[in-house]
Amino acid sequence: MRILSGIQPSGALHLGNYFGMMLPSIELQAKGEAFYFIADYHSMTSLFDAEQRRKNTLDVALDFLACGLDPKRSVFFKQSDVPEVTELAWMLTTLTPMGLLERATSYKDKIARGISPNHGIFAYPVLMAADILIYDSNIVPVGRDQKQHVEMTRDMAVKFNETYGETFILPEPQIREEVAVVLGTDGQKMSKSYGNTVEIFGDEKVIRKKIMGITMDSRQPAEPKPDAEKNLAVQLLKLVAPPNVGKDFEDRLRAGGLGYGDLKKALFAHYWDYFTEARKRRAELAANLDHVNKVLSDGAEKARALADKVLKRARKASGLE
Ligand code: TRP
Repeated sequence: MRILSGIQPSGALHLGNYFGMMLPSIELQAKGEAFYFIADYHSMTSLFDAEQRRKNTLDVALDFLACGLDPKRSVFFKQSDVPEVTELAWMLTTLTPMGLLERATSYKDKIARGISPNHGIFAYPVLMAADILIYDSNIVPVGRDQKQHVEMTRDMAVKFNETYGETFILPEPQIREEVAVVLGTDGQKMSKSYGNTVEIFGDEKVIRKKIMGITMDSRQPAEPKPDAEKNLAVQLLKLVAPPNVGKDFEDRLRAGGLGYGDLKKALFAHYWDYFTEARKRRAELAANLDHVNKVLSDGAEKARALADKVLKRARKASGLE
């Protein structure tokens, strides 16, 4: 079984990235042959600063490796080190109806937020389909927001197979429902574009302040809270604390008598503990960038060998060869 996923180098990674995509990907390493990459081509649709892209790409590599991506078990690489993927994207784009792309919710969201769209934003799902198909991927672990993109990938693969003969494997998205959407400090989906993120490796003071600032209602501490399971801090605490601790805080909030300040302090403490080991590993990796670069270049070599093979199949099928 081949597992594949990608993550954009859009800045410091946060708990939404971690629980939605990184942790499932790290756990899946044991279950098959995993390919994980940093989607630097995709970042070009919305980031126009070369130095920033370089920095973000390195940060994602450090974050992911520190969190447990094991380069001995998984192939870890930079998307743009396999430029063949853009050729496959072209082949797929010629078979992709405009209407399919116009229906992409991530595209519609960006328009709704007032982003003036470039063609890359519109074509984003086609490049993502090429990412997935060029490695004969079976399983794609992603957060819920990416599910539609994987479904579009299947549509494109079916269309190619119908047009040119059986060429591509149809991938399945794998979404962990319990963490499919991690909420940010304001109660919307945690996302860099909403400015509501809690970074995995944030500065202690900055994150404490963010956590103490999580939006709460104005009910008094003594009041019972029958909707305790919906409380933002409780939801985040359940992700980073042992299950009995999360449940205990939820029960105390429900019963009344637990103040929001104490709840948030507990959340900060468990968040900080949860990433203590990873924080140490990250510091070690940051002091050994030669190693990190070697991991990525070895990964690129392996990824490229496979991509070459699959691309050749598509070139033959479509009459380019
Ligand atoms: N679009 C994904 C995101 O923003 C990143 C991505 C690019 C990806 N290519 C992919 C994820 C292929 C899975 C498979 O999170």
